[in-house]
Amino acid sequence: MHGVAITGTGIFTPDQTITNAELVASYNAYAERVNAGMAAEIQAGRAEPLPLSSEEFIVKASGIERRHVMDKSGILDPARMYPVLPERGEDELSLMAEISIDAAGKALKRAGRSADMVDAVICAASNHERAYPAIAIEVQQALGIRGFGFDMNVACSSATFGIQAAADMIRAGSARSILIVNPEITSGHQEWRDRDCHFIFGDVCTAVLLERAEDVEAGSAFEIVSTRCLTEFSNNIRNNNGFLRRTRDGHMADRRDMLFHQEGRKVFKQVVPMVAELMLGHLADNGLSPADVSRLWLHQANKGMNDLIGHRVLGREPTRKEQPNVLQDYANTSSAGSIIAFSMYSDDLAPGSYGVICSFGAGYSAGSVIVRKMG
Ligand code: COA
Repeated sequence: MHGVAITGTGIFTPDQTITNAELVASYNAYAERVNAGMAAEIQAGRAEPLPLSSEEFIVKASGIERRHVMDKSGILDPARMYPVLPERGEDELSLMAEISIDAAGKALKRAGRSADMVDAVICAASNHERAYPAIAIEVQQALGIRGFGFDMNVACSSATFGIQAAADMIRAGSARSILIVNPEITSGHQEWRDRDCHFIFGDVCTAVLLERAEDVEAGSAFEIVSTRCLTEFSNNIRNNNGFLRRTRDGHMADRRDMLFHQEGRKVFKQVVPMVAELMLGHLADNGLSPADVSRLWLHQANKGMNDLIGHRVLGREPTRKEQPNVLQDYANTSSAGSIIAFSMYSDDLAPGSYGVICSFGAGYSAGSVIVRKMG
């Protein structure tokens, strides 16, 4: 068995941002339009008006202050409320491949590697813009990588599950170096017309390069000590869009269930203990106690959730440095969130320091990756 190390990470961040103030103004304009359109029904008690959103609620309930998106014009247009992402020809690079290549280039540069040293590409994301061919294979070809590529989806846990899949292949010897990309265009499957969730998501792409540990000169690399994945079926976060849609009467309509929907309170209550238990058990089974851990890079969905998980794992309130959040600037970027935190807040750790990258989300799914700074 070979050792495995994370040698580089990269982030593609879209230029466009939406503040909570902009988001709430556009949603409220939309709600007022809808309410004006059904004023008679509302007056007669036959319909409920759409409630308005508020900045105060968003910050208090989630900790999110702004989000990056691929296109804000369509999202903020009260007559549209979803992004404008023009169709590309089949001979053009797809959007998910394009942002993956940007993040991958940064990860390779940080690792001091070139694409010809990579054996495989995994595109791990919570949604893929087409059924096939795999986005990963398109990225592989664009970067000139020999070997293979495949797509996988475990919702918000896609990146950590991708790391486990890649690490297992490198350990076993079927690949020597694997690039994982997490292009998350969440604005395409977010319901911007629902105040309960319109503030939750943002767009981004992350990339992670994994290599055989013996090929690596310590530098800023992190050895992967252990990975652990966990799933438990739940309908509390769900999206019913899929390839059987047109075979079912009424499914081609503009239906709420064909986009992200959730029971946010239940998710919060059920996922916090599941994740804390996973992390504590994973550390214990590797002979580590919470006191041995210098940093937690958690999934970035909700500040309150992260505060609670950090508290349960460390047995006390984590400092901002120990458990960095990026969700105030990025919102929930699905599988990319914990990787953004890791990429931005890991260089300062001393050689020998332990940390845990942990994701959680739909499925339910949770992934824990224990790493140790090399050097
Ligand atoms: N503006 C103003 N009020 C709002 C609002 C908005 N945008 N959205 C909801 N509200 C209202 C609700 O209607 C509700 O009103 P009521 O008490 O009159 O019924 C009240 O605020 C509380 O709503 P609730 O949904 O219970 O809030 P919450 O405190 O649970 O926060 C989440 C909502 C989604 C932020 C929170 O549940 C969460 O983050 N859960 C985990 C979700 C998660 O991580 N999902 C993973 C996705 S991958």
